[in-house]
Amino acid sequence: MHNQARASITAVGHFLPDQRLTNDDLSRMVDTNDEWIRTRTGIHERRILWDKDKATSYMAIRAGAEALQKRGLTPEDIDVIIVATVTPDMSFPATACLVQAGLGASRAWGFDLSAACSGFLFAINTGANLIESGRYRRVLVIGADKMSSITDYTNRNTCVLFGDAAGAVLMEANVNGCGLIDSVLHCDGRNWESLCMLGGGSLNPPTHDTVDRKMHYIHQDGQSVFKVAVKGMADVAAEVMQRNGLTGSDVRFLVPHQANQRIIGAVARHMGLGMDRVMLNIGRYGNTTAATIPLCLYDWEHELREGDNIVIAAFGGGFTWGASYIRWAYDGAERVCIDRDTEMAVAS
Ligand code: ACO
Repeated sequence: MHNQARASITAVGHFLPDQRLTNDDLSRMVDTNDEWIRTRTGIHERRILWDKDKATSYMAIRAGAEALQKRGLTPEDIDVIIVATVTPDMSFPATACLVQAGLGASRAWGFDLSAACSGFLFAINTGANLIESGRYRRVLVIGADKMSSITDYTNRNTCVLFGDAAGAVLMEANVNGCGLIDSVLHCDGRNWESLCMLGGGSLNPPTHDTVDRKMHYIHQDGQSVFKVAVKGMADVAAEVMQRNGLTGSDVRFLVPHQANQRIIGAVARHMGLGMDRVMLNIGRYGNTTAATIPLCLYDWEHELREGDNIVIAAFGGGFTWGASYIRWAYDGAERVCIDRDTEMAVAS
């Protein structure tokens, strides 16, 4: 008997720009090489939305529309839109408003959530609480970032890491015991300077000087972030497993934020998981900030079955970090099959 309604993910959508930026491309732009990037990060290539007139909302709308289509719903069915991003189209209005208009989600309200690479994790927790309150039936949670808009392509320390993408999930109530079961979430602003973008906000409004000093780009002290990211993600993943009585063999997949393959490997070892049970696609997309986790769910959806235990873990600027334990709510293979049938029907 499961009386308590939980919020479950019921569809996944995504958007990836067509254009690829390979390690060899980058080696012609800065002093780097394919071997360094692959061995230090696991990244082979990333997608970049080079079009100047297309921003984060462009990708978010497409990811959201795909999730709705896969669930057989229309934009009018959505109650709330949450967009996790650190690269909103503008400071305001919120990107969620542009997504609302772009989708035609006439009944929805929404807002942006800023928590860097933990943004999607924090957003599904927020969405789950809105659903569990009983007031809202369907929340569209989107993680989207156009990281190329804040990346300095003359700085080899950061430009090799990031890519552009969007991922979206629909969240709905579930009374069969599936959904978001438990989370451990944190933020600690004491070392915010290790990973930040200094310019553009109310502390350093844009001026010629802030542009000259490259303050509108990502700044990262890679090594110190690396150490706290491994410990932070491993600790919260272990905590959420322990307090829900899960051992490594109970977990079907770890869904980690994709910042560095070495961080992910260390977290998996700590959880007692082989890499066959870790969603890993950083090689193809790089670090797409709020989009990495829904992109993983999209890529592995066909392997997920109703009742599978998954642990999502993230670490990002702020610092922000956390882990969530989710019992998956549907057989992904069937959903993917239905989508292909629909696509073929639409195409013919
Ligand atoms: N190509 C070649 N050499 C490079 C490059 C490059 N692209 N980048 C740096 N180097 C050099 C450095 O200059 C340094 O040279 P030096 O020893 O002569 O000074 C050397 O390589 C080692 O540099 P490190 O920074 O120590 O390299 P490290 O092994 O730490 O890897 C990296 C760097 C990949 C950034 C790693 O530290 C990392 O992944 N950090 C964590 C990132 C993360 O988790 N971020 C959080 C999420 S992001 C968000 O929230 C937006």
